[in-house]
Amino acid sequence: MSSTSTPRPRRREFLKAAAGVAAASVMGPFPALSAGPTLEAKAGTLALQARGEVAIWGYGGTSPGPLIKLSQGDVLQAALVNSLDEATTLHWHGIRVPNGMDGVPFLTQAPVAPGQGFSYAFSCADAGTYWYHPHANSAGQVGRGLCGAIVVEEDKPIAVDRDLVWVLADWRFDQDGRLVEDFGALHDASHAGRLGNVSSLNGRQSPQIDVRPGERLRLRLVNAAGARIFAPDFEGLEPWWVALDGQPIEPRRPGPSGLLICPGTRADLIVDIPAAGEALFRVRDTTYRNAEFILATLRSRGRPLRGTVLPPPRKLPDNPIGRPDLARAEVRNVTFEGGAMGGLATAHLDGEKLNLREMAARGVVWATNGRSSSSLQSLAAQDRLFEIDLGKSYVFRLRNRTAFPHPIHLHGHTFRILARQGKRLSEEIWRDTALVFPDEEVDIAFLADNPGDWLLHCHILGHAAAGMTAAIRVG
Ligand code: C2O
Ligand code: CU
Repeated sequence: MSSTSTPRPRRREFLKAAAGVAAASVMGPFPALSAGPTLEAKAGTLALQARGEVAIWGYGGTSPGPLIKLSQGDVLQAALVNSLDEATTLHWHGIRVPNGMDGVPFLTQAPVAPGQGFSYAFSCADAGTYWYHPHANSAGQVGRGLCGAIVVEEDKPIAVDRDLVWVLADWRFDQDGRLVEDFGALHDASHAGRLGNVSSLNGRQSPQIDVRPGERLRLRLVNAAGARIFAPDFEGLEPWWVALDGQPIEPRRPGPSGLLICPGTRADLIVDIPAAGEALFRVRDTTYRNAEFILATLRSRGRPLRGTVLPPPRKLPDNPIGRPDLARAEVRNVTFEGGAMGGLATAHLDGEKLNLREMAARGVVWATNGRSSSSLQSLAAQDRLFEIDLGKSYVFRLRNRTAFPHPIHLHGHTFRILARQGKRLSEEIWRDTALVFPDEEVDIAFLADNPGDWLLHCHILGHAAAGMTAAIRVG
């Protein structure tokens, strides 16, 4: 069903909400940290289009929400205040948090009711670029603007003149410039997901960003879109890609469209602006045929910051991620089926064997190893996809038997992309989300060193809501 009314969450008394935060507090014996941010999920507006302000949801009423910046090893403390009129939570995407801090309704915590709050606190062992977003009704809540970036700074970062975060989002507007609230539409969910008609960078459409000749920038791109894959092409510039999903890679220049930034993922780039004179550099996105657009324009002017060409950036230091023992790792197949043109016959939905038509009548079109669930609540009540042993190493063979690409995200762990189509990757690439193309098999390897119940799901949020969500237990 598509509706074009604007979201209007009820406003609550802040004090009531703050009292909820105190009551729900789950503080452990953490090292002292100056007060962390309060993230109030509430209705707000965004001046995104020339037409004027659009009604959205955001932390503090803005989208993206506040940038959280801390140093590697620091404790992140954040108080969620729910001023929406539906339950919410916070998930810390890519950060290896203790299970109780992971923010998955029913699986790791009770959903935070309207007017209530929850205090999150955990240490950030890994440096890099991460992000936060709700994990309740993610398609609708992230889709309306609830998201924000987290920067965990290295001890010794790459020296740059400026470090910028670019949160990329995707919106679907109607002709009157209002957000279309068809977040659960099954047509989108059974195809490539809910693509919008306007993309934004830090809440602005095709912004112009001033830079200086000779300036070295670190750009941290965060894909907070529900379905859109970005492939920015920096015309006239040759960025070095230095990290993916927060994890360092050997600095490289993949060329235009050489690296895809799929939903949920991050890419850190080092961009050197040429020293010679004033210039405009367009950042174009050409991921989708006949739908290319300008993500941003860099306008270089002013006195050059330097006249020399800087040497290539060095590789960032590795994060302390437990390494899987590949010789002894157990292989588990994870097969994704369903969707339009996928040929799925039957699957067990909430434990009941149904055909695809019967599943679709309940809003579900995807299955993982022949199983799916209609909600996180029913998922949490079912058996886990796998129960695996704490301290052991595993290879998950992600097999895409559908007609669409899927960015598959594992909670609580950072994995190594071991192989594609059975072909071993020579470089060690660590990620929290793996893009798997139709008919492709991607092997991911990880050490199961974080106990608890963890989601394994597609980060196309409409896919996740339509059954492409599973849970494993490490314990
Ligand atoms: Cu970005 Cu299950 O999360
Ligand atoms: Cu998907």
